[in-house]
Amino acid sequence: MFGSLLELRHDTHLAIDRLARHYGDVCLLRFGNVPTVIISHPDLLQDAFGRPELADRWVSEIMDILSSGNDLVLAPYGDRWRQMQRFANRELLSARNLDNVRERHIEGIVNGLVDEMAAMGDAGELVSPPVMLARSNSEMMFRAVFGRDEDSAGEFVQLRGALLQHVNWIFANANATNLADYIPLMKFLPNNALKEAVRQSEIGAAIIDSLLQGARNRPGLDLSAPTCLVEVMLAQEETGEIESDMINDLCMDLLLAGTDTSAQTVSWTLLLLANRPELQAKVHDELDGVIGSDALPTVDDRTRLPYTFACLAESMRYRTIGPLAVPHQAAEDTEVGGYLVPAGAQVLGNIYSIHHDPRFWDSPDDFIPERFLPQSDGSPAAALTGNAFIPFGTGHRRCPGRRFAETTVWLHLTRMLHRLRFETPAGSPLSEAEVFGLAISPLPYSLRVERRR
Ligand code: HEM
Repeated sequence: MFGSLLELRHDTHLAIDRLARHYGDVCLLRFGNVPTVIISHPDLLQDAFGRPELADRWVSEIMDILSSGNDLVLAPYGDRWRQMQRFANRELLSARNLDNVRERHIEGIVNGLVDEMAAMGDAGELVSPPVMLARSNSEMMFRAVFGRDEDSAGEFVQLRGALLQHVNWIFANANATNLADYIPLMKFLPNNALKEAVRQSEIGAAIIDSLLQGARNRPGLDLSAPTCLVEVMLAQEETGEIESDMINDLCMDLLLAGTDTSAQTVSWTLLLLANRPELQAKVHDELDGVIGSDALPTVDDRTRLPYTFACLAESMRYRTIGPLAVPHQAAEDTEVGGYLVPAGAQVLGNIYSIHHDPRFWDSPDDFIPERFLPQSDGSPAAALTGNAFIPFGTGHRRCPGRRFAETTVWLHLTRMLHRLRFETPAGSPLSEAEVFGLAISPLPYSLRVERRR
């Protein structure tokens, strides 16, 4: 029991994949004191996560300290969660608000990153997509949420730096398996990460308070025409649609759930295409034929660029950045696929195994974008309409940021590939090994860049 817990701390999703292959579509493991059910079949997962009794969250001690367990990501399935989720889906992350922040904040940051990479290529320098995307995506998310405050630029910039440092601490520490979550006796041992988490949660709360106060007092604030997501929230607070404490929680949710996920998706796709120059050349041909030199790819070009889209979808399957979704918890005894799921059990949706299961995918361990191309009659690929492709999860807790992520990832990829060619430094493929974390990342890597236009 102890040994297998330690084994699971690294490459957790791969260890769980091995267990699922051995024990079947529903298996019950005991991580220390915590019964953990792993669901690895798309039909069973769709059914299970569509049920209210499996829509609670299993919250680790560190995350409980950091978030108070009341935010959209971690709140139990109940009235508060429903109110935030409805607001996020219908208003906060609606197409209208997304268009607004894309035009005001996102496009400029994407274009700036492409310019920076092009200039580095001209100077003969290597680019490091994971590092550059992490930086630009956190700036992008921060701007989308808080906007830009010209009048107090100094303090605003300082708060931004402090908040990004806080978010990075959470990325680095929140996923570390804390044995005390599973073995109650260990709760009595000193734990520095938990102590630091208490301090970090106070720091995070104070920064968000200051930023919100700044936003409320912004000169010329006009909530009938919001310029960023915080202003959308303040407008809805006035109408009573959401409570003020939800605004603090939602700001952190957007920064935590939205930054690393999208950055890692773009990082993976660039790496996979740099390792496969012949596929990257097909993307370039498509972009040249459809977009040409005088225009820039936009969010409306997805159906006009089917091969480029297929590469992105295949990248999200082949390297699933959220391999076990976010842990769920059973609110009561229930059954999945004929097996008992005891009340209180942690329930993991094994998206990684579903994305690599030969029952649903031919040659699942190969990168084959063609499986996501439209069918000959023009209808979408079966891979897209079935239930075995679920990078954003399924059921009640599925990702409310999907539209946001699809827009920002698409803009990054198409604008980079339209303008640039990416090559591995020595001309031979780089490692595609996965590093387990809050989102699965590639090993650090650098690429050569060549300007195409
Ligand atoms: C490529 C990028 C992304 C991927 C692959 C992704 C994937 C996921 C997955 C697998 C879940 C868990 C589903 C479950 O537990 O059953 C999730 C939850 C969530 N995601 Fe995303 N996500 C991405 C980007 C984003 C963005 C950009 C935002 C915000 C703007 C966001 C906000 C959230 C939130 C708030 C939740 C929790 C929902 C809840 O518990 O009710 N995500 N995401």
